[in-house]
Amino acid sequence: MTRTVYVNGEYLPETEAKVSIFYRAFLMADGVYEVTSVLGGKLIDFEGHQKRLERSLNELDMKKPAAFDNLIEIHRKLVELNGIEEGLIYLQVTRGAPGDRDFAFPDPETTEPTLVLFTQNKPGLADNPTAKTGIKVISIEDIRWGRRDIKTVQLLYPSMGKMMAKKAGCDDAWMVEDGFVTEGTSNNAYIVKDGKIITRNLSTDILHGITRAAVLKFAREAQMVVEERPFTIEEAKEADEAFFTSASAFVMPVVEIDGATIGTGTPGDVAGRLREIYLEESRKVAV
Ligand code: PDD
Repeated sequence: MTRTVYVNGEYLPETEAKVSIFYRAFLMADGVYEVTSVLGGKLIDFEGHQKRLERSLNELDMKKPAAFDNLIEIHRKLVELNGIEEGLIYLQVTRGAPGDRDFAFPDPETTEPTLVLFTQNKPGLADNPTAKTGIKVISIEDIRWGRRDIKTVQLLYPSMGKMMAKKAGCDDAWMVEDGFVTEGTSNNAYIVKDGKIITRNLSTDILHGITRAAVLKFAREAQMVVEERPFTIEEAKEADEAFFTSASAFVMPVVEIDGATIGTGTPGDVAGRLREIYLEESRKVAV
């Protein structure tokens, strides 16, 4: 089926949607993005994603696209036009296409930002069978830039990390800097020890996950103890449980790290409970 996508104010068949070769995201990775999940045809954590997008734009001095205040309508229209019950919506804003290659930012008065959105249909996203078996990760050095709190489209290293994991027969890589885990290639990392949920504190070292914020809020409301601090791979290997969170996987148990079995080697109770709570509560407030 041909998707209908959104490009700068127009809803078009994906085959007709085009951007310039001078597009700054193409030449300079000068773009930011968001991925929002859809469950029951509704948007999960939409407000959080919109707020983070605004923050990313501000941090990079990038002008808001004209349609910024209509983003919810654009998301909803794409869900409707593409008949999405469960899936994802990808949104990208770039500094536009100034008509030539130049390191300097184009004048925002004459070069409009570009806004692109498309849907990814993923039936069974909430019922993902992987959540029942858990996934395996490897650790790799984190060699990304220093502003990981900005959700930019510079995803080459995370992409290479996924390939390194694949090559090692695993599903993902947790990145390590100065001996401490930063995050997964496209998710936030957690361990559980003696009932305590441990995850790295927010800083410029990691992306401030929207799922992370919601999951930690629900955990605290359920009287679970949360400790926001860095942890090492050695500590993770000794943990009772490990898991990660993201808009596309929600709460995903991790059962093996660098070949070491975590806990019993099956998804833990805390991760299972958090996944359940997250899916239930976020569906209630989905828009
Ligand atoms: N990735 N850390 C990184 C590096 C990420 O790329 C992501 C999300 C997260 C989790 O953030 P959130 O809970 O807001 O999805 C953490 C998205 C899903 C992606 O690139 O597809």
